Amino acid sequence: MKRIVDILKDDPSMVEITVKGWVRSFRNDRFIAINDGSTIKNLQAVIDPEKIDQAVRDQITVASAVAVTGNLVESEGKGQRVELQAISVEILATADSEEVAKTILSPKRHKLDTLREQAHLRVRTNTFGAVMRVRAALSFAIHKYFQEKGFYQAHTPIITGSDAEGAGEMFRISTLDTKNPPLTEEGEIDYSKDFFGKETNLTVSGQLEAETYAMGLGQVYTFGPTFRAENSNTSRHLAEFWMIEPEVAFNDLDANMDLAEDFIKEVIKYTIEQCADDLEFLEQRLVNEDKLKPQAERSPMPLREKLEFVLKNNFKRVSYTEAIDILKNSKPNKKKKFNYVIEEWGADLQSEHERYLVEKHFKCPVILFDYPAKIKAFYMRLNDDHKTVRAMDILFPGIGEIVGGSQREERYDVLKQKMDDMGIPEEELWWYLEMRKFGSVVHSGFGLGFERLVMFVTGMGNVRDVIPYPRTPGNAEF
Ligand code: 4AD
Ligand code: MG
Repeated sequence: MKRIVDILKDDPSMVEITVKGWVRSFRNDRFIAINDGSTIKNLQAVIDPEKIDQAVRDQITVASAVAVTGNLVESEGKGQRVELQAISVEILATADSEEVAKTILSPKRHKLDTLREQAHLRVRTNTFGAVMRVRAALSFAIHKYFQEKGFYQAHTPIITGSDAEGAGEMFRISTLDTKNPPLTEEGEIDYSKDFFGKETNLTVSGQLEAETYAMGLGQVYTFGPTFRAENSNTSRHLAEFWMIEPEVAFNDLDANMDLAEDFIKEVIKYTIEQCADDLEFLEQRLVNEDKLKPQAERSPMPLREKLEFVLKNNFKRVSYTEAIDILKNSKPNKKKKFNYVIEEWGADLQSEHERYLVEKHFKCPVILFDYPAKIKAFYMRLNDDHKTVRAMDILFPGIGEIVGGSQREERYDVLKQKMDDMGIPEEELWWYLEMRKFGSVVHSGFGLGFERLVMFVTGMGNVRDVIPYPRTPGNAEF
């Protein structure tokens, strides 16, 4: 069956076609707007009330499903080139108008919060249809990019026995009886009796396993769900999010930055080409939303211009040390406007600092590199200054950190020392360390937070609105 996205590109013809979709509106007993999800645009079907039974017409209500058969003719109305001159209408599924009126399917403006409460219905709104089509296009673009560059997808485990980021923000996996768990002699829960014979959790990152695969396949990437039990109820954090993690043997940090920048630009470019109608709609949505906000909080550029801007300009590469100097001398720091005032080198950057650098100072995407070893993960390669590591974070306007990556510590002794110093248990990560004994070459990789990318491309302000069913502290409905 032909989808509406294709039909709308067709020329008028006398060949009969049948279209199936959901009714978005039914005006004047005559005009049905049908949407089948293939595009933000509706197909208008025009019926002759004298030829379609009253009983059928009564059932053409918002959210009902219909199959309309007819001819595609030139449209007399504005806003569309063709319309369907209906010969017959079949009701495929009804929707009670009174019930519909109680939901977000009712044709009026609903708040994003309300849509979230009805996440099982929200994909049938224009906004969520557009966001989810863009999300799907980005996902495809990502696979396309890596596959065409000769990367192999590595399917790293979801259940692991290790903490890849060493940050202790994990969800435990267990089949033990919570009411009556087996105990050790010391009275602690005895995980040796658990399903896997040890403590396990949902992965926070596939990086460590991906590294082992880069050492055999050269260039690999993961694209899967990751889980973090950090209690941050922000507009950018999810407890379950999707991450893309390329890992490349022989790449140093500069090559890693080049890859990340090229990758982000290419997937955005593909999506601009594929999702023109959705992006046009989302741009207008943002304009309408911005009208309700104070000037200072509005987007500085229309959505598509912002995307083009990212494609055209080089990301600014700045060392952590330079960034700290900029921040220390910045107005908000001097006037103590930051919640966390930057006092000295070594301070961790908060999202307020990242956004200042990107939105106020450089006004373009920024790659910060060479962070203090103390504030970054154990696996990052130590620089010769013994103070900084070969880390890089990519910061985006309106988003803050979108990518986190690094060159990895490939030297056995240095890594072992680092793990000891940072209290990373060797019995968990012996294999990660052992890998450093056999042909351990320079290698690098990064992680892109998929939802943050979708936020950027769609202009949505809350990460809960770019994933079908968001998982956040206190919320796992649906
Ligand atoms: O900076 P992170 O923690 O880096 C890693 O996990 C590395 N192992 C990646 C690597 O080098 N292979 O996370 C990477 C990205 C962040 O920059 C952010 O975009 C996203 O993942 N992210 C989250 N997105 C949504 N919700 C959360 N709670 C996120 N935590 C991280
Ligand atoms: Mg990070």
